[in-house]
Amino acid sequence: MNWSKKSVKELNNNVFQAIGDEWMLITAEKDGIVNTMTASWGAMGIMWGKTVATAYIRPQRYTKEFVDAADTFTLTFFGGEEKKAMGLLGSVSGREMPDKIEKSGLHVTKVDGQVTFEEALLVLVCKKLYVQEMKPECFLGQEEIDRWYPEKDFHFMYMAEIIDAYTPEKE
Ligand SMILES: Cc1cc2nc3c(=O)[nH]c(=O)nc-3n(C[C@H](O)[C@H](O)[C@H](O)COP(=O)(O)O)c2cc1C
Repeated sequence: MNWSKKSVKELNNNVFQAIGDEWMLITAEKDGIVNTMTASWGAMGIMWGKTVATAYIRPQRYTKEFVDAADTFTLTFFGGEEKKAMGLLGSVSGREMPDKIEKSGLHVTKVDGQVTFEEALLVLVCKKLYVQEMKPECFLGQEEIDRWYPEKDFHFMYMAEIIDAYTPEKE
């Protein structure tokens, strides 16, 4: 697979659609093992003068251990394809099913040493800058807490600099 490196500002994806409707995979590597999970919550913008992506990961996700262990993680987008695979990767934990990626039918590959998938349409390589656990006392109302956190498993937010973006080269 040949990849073409893009400047983030050159991308014209609608991030609301890309994250919220088409979903993405958050992927990281630890001790030579790769884990990934589906995410449909996230943000992108500018912070500290850098192009950043923010991922929101609940504490019980196995992927969190991988993201915590690494300096970088990737966000992989499939442009609305691979929903079935992402459904599996977003409902089964790699902790219980270590071969869930293989079962999903997606194929792990590397771009510039960073783990992603052969089927990707866009890969963002993210370098962690800031991690914070969401705190119940910081919510300005009760509604989100009641609706999304009955188990009190507040997300950790990972703000990361998007250091590289890749799209597959057209043949
Ligand atoms: C469409 C979809 C979106 C999801 N978005 C998130 C998310 O933004 N943050 C999160 O912590 N979990 C999210 N999940 C749940 C994880 O993907 C799921 O728990 C996954 O099995 C975790 O795998 P792991 O334990 O191997 O990391 C989502 C699941 C689906 C199906």
